[in-house]
Amino acid sequence: MKATTSLTALILGAALASMATAQTQPAADSPAAQAGAGAAAAVSGSTEAAAPAAEGEGAVEEEPVEVAEGQTVMPSGHDITAVEMTDGRWRNDEGIPTFKVEEDGTVDFATFNGFRRYHAECHVCHGPDGEGSTYAPALKNSVLRMDYYDFMQVVASGRQGTNSVMPAFGTNKNVWCYIDDIYTYLVAHGTDTIGRGRPAKRADKPEDYTAQEDACMSM
Ligand code: HEC
Repeated sequence: MKATTSLTALILGAALASMATAQTQPAADSPAAQAGAGAAAAVSGSTEAAAPAAEGEGAVEEEPVEVAEGQTVMPSGHDITAVEMTDGRWRNDEGIPTFKVEEDGTVDFATFNGFRRYHAECHVCHGPDGEGSTYAPALKNSVLRMDYYDFMQVVASGRQGTNSVMPAFGTNKNVWCYIDDIYTYLVAHGTDTIGRGRPAKRADKPEDYTAQEDACMSM
């Protein structure tokens, strides 16, 4: 996941560098222009270098989250280890929703559903697979950093950015009844437990899940 983020920064940095070069250097193929672009490309892998230049373009600052192999407690302070299932969803030791992926790659139902819901409601702004866009941040990183309740707060109430708006979804049942699923999907992808795209195999829908879903949708 770090590689993808760096790549985004690299492409963005290179694009900005070439725009800047085009404005200040009439001959794009002059040795000076090439040196300028090369130097910008060399440092653009680092977000510190790319971000200030990107601000004017409305691009979103990318902050990759480092997660070591085998690490279970995220920078958010939440442990991703699945301990018990309630309402058809896996939870950690604090009752916070988490994912469970079997050794053969079978993804728990809620997390699989989160993939679908994310791509129905969030990906237009936050990019496919939570990878981020020039408009909105990479949620696969946000969920590893943010407290679960802060995440819920932003989705429920929305947020006004500098040049952009995160809409409020608290009264949208198609989001709110499945927000835990979207959250666990993003955590599962953010930790690279599941890759990009639709998970190939999913577990059956638990009865408790259906009961909770019906109750939420009829509220
Ligand atoms: C219309 C575009 C749009 C849609 C659709 C959208 N968002 Fe956002 N979202 C944004 C923008 C823009 C921001 C950044 C706001 C800011 O600068 O504070 C944001 C920020 C967030 C944040 C805070 C991230 C952080 O790192 O601080 C969360 C969490 C979030 N969105 C979740 C979601 C979820 C979940 C969905 C789908 C249910 C969704 N968003 C759909 C535009 C959108």
